[in-house]
Amino acid sequence: MQGTILFVSLLLIGLVAVVFAAVVLASTSRGEPDKRAMETHRVRLMVAFAIIGFVVTYVSLRPWPHEAEAFEGAMTVEVTASQWSWEISQKEIPVATSVIFNVQSHDVNHGVGVYDPKGALLFQTQAMPGVVNRVKYTFSEPGSYRVLCMEYCGLAHHGMTDEFKVVEK
Ligand code: CUA
Repeated sequence: MQGTILFVSLLLIGLVAVVFAAVVLASTSRGEPDKRAMETHRVRLMVAFAIIGFVVTYVSLRPWPHEAEAFEGAMTVEVTASQWSWEISQKEIPVATSVIFNVQSHDVNHGVGVYDPKGALLFQTQAMPGVVNRVKYTFSEPGSYRVLCMEYCGLAHHGMTDEFKVVEK
């Protein structure tokens, strides 16, 4: 995922560079500009960027992080934050099982980030007092998963870590 984001970012940076170069070249060329042609060109560019924007947004947002409807067979795990520790209701989660994380906080705003055994961030959401944020996730590999606080929440924010295991069924 990070590789894809890097690729798309570089592509868009390149595109912006091409547009800049085109503008500089056009401004140095002589002659009266054709206003009608410019207008058509501008509209085409706007439509093209709108389409690219929609496609990039759609592709990069899937699978929808907020798609967390309960369904049969899904397991529920309660994750509650407090300064400066996590309460996780289930420390062993079976592999290839849909899990719904119900995330909330006892005190201030925290952020929960779940990292795979290789240290890659899988998902994150806010842990807020009075609000339950739900995240649905299916783990595909057994191992030890780390939970880190993703939002500064006071003096011992850095120490607010925990772990759970994903195990074979
Ligand atoms: Cu909890 Cu930072």
